[in-house]
Amino acid sequence: MADRIALDVLKGKTVFPPPVWLMRQAGRYLPEYRETRRRAGGFLDLCYDPAFAVEVTLQPIRRFGFDAAILFSDILVVPHALGRDLRFEDGSGPLMTPIAAEQIERIDVSGFHERLAPVYETVRRLRSELPETTTLIGFCGAPWTVATYMIAGRGSPDQAAARLFGYRWPDAMRTLLALLADVSAAYLIRQIEAGADAVQIFDSWSGVLDGESFGCFCVEPVAAIVKQVRAAHPQVPVIAFPKGAGSRYVGFRKATGAAAIGLDWTVPLDQARIIQQEGVVQGNLDPQRLVAGGRALSDGVGAILRELGGGPLVFNLGHGITPETPIGNVEAMLDQIRRRPPR
Ligand code: CP3
Repeated sequence: MADRIALDVLKGKTVFPPPVWLMRQAGRYLPEYRETRRRAGGFLDLCYDPAFAVEVTLQPIRRFGFDAAILFSDILVVPHALGRDLRFEDGSGPLMTPIAAEQIERIDVSGFHERLAPVYETVRRLRSELPETTTLIGFCGAPWTVATYMIAGRGSPDQAAARLFGYRWPDAMRTLLALLADVSAAYLIRQIEAGADAVQIFDSWSGVLDGESFGCFCVEPVAAIVKQVRAAHPQVPVIAFPKGAGSRYVGFRKATGAAAIGLDWTVPLDQARIIQQEGVVQGNLDPQRLVAGGRALSDGVGAILRELGGGPLVFNLGHGITPETPIGNVEAMLDQIRRRPPR
């Protein structure tokens, strides 16, 4: 097999310049994405049609030659495959009917993999169409983050509804998170068997949890997923991204068993170095530096290369690329990463 440097780094190797990909690299900042999205109709039509999903996954690889491609889908296809309704309306993000505590016992997992068959087909086609050297990353949402959307029915700035639900109905919450962990592990295992080289667990909302809840709502379910994936495929690296975890980033790798840790942009680079001593890190440029460009961008990129380039690093943003990002800034960032030796 040809060298896949992003995969090598995820397994613990140090490579300089580091491999790079961007969260949400297939998205609205690309005119070709907007064009395909228009042809597909709705966002979910894009996710569930392998031809469209393959096309948009490949677009940023063709344009920028990123070292890794991330499957194009969404974290909310998992509750959708459990029979929950899901809509994406322009400008308002995802919308679902909020789940009630008493409905959780009755969630029906039959038909889960059948409903997700188009995703597995997308992964199969991607592995055969991607360049040999491009690492293919599959993903799922972490149980807590998926649960926040199932409970509130939409995004919110602080996930108050899901936090309240967890305090009022702790048993229902535990049941929901355990169920999501099991189906998500099975989902990742199917993606790996279809050709994914590595998988990432997005816990975008872990940062809103208090100390105790962080342990049982974030760490435990993520650890349960990692354990099941590793039991089935011990060679496949799992990247955990507990966005906003702050001081709780230290030790997260050990607590969950993840091979690599995704750092959000608020993690100071001296802290990031400590976390990197525990293993591979991925991140963590502020996406707004990429929007700004110029000195803001080159200073941010330079600092990450300088502080983290001496150890196992997958260069990435600290969260998804935003629609207003100028394409020229992405090119400038890649030139800087790929050409400049460490100072
Ligand atoms: O390129 C990639 O990174 C792969 C595709 C991907 C998408 N969503 C496509 C998408 C991935 C990995 C996700 C993960 C995801 N989805 C997360 C976790 C990561 C994060 O961003 O915190 C979450 C919380 C979701 C749920 C979700 N999907 C929200 C809140 C939204 C609306 C916000 C927005 O940007 O509009 C989406 C929609 C979505 N998912 C878009 C894309 C490209 C934009 C929809 C469009 O094209 O209209």
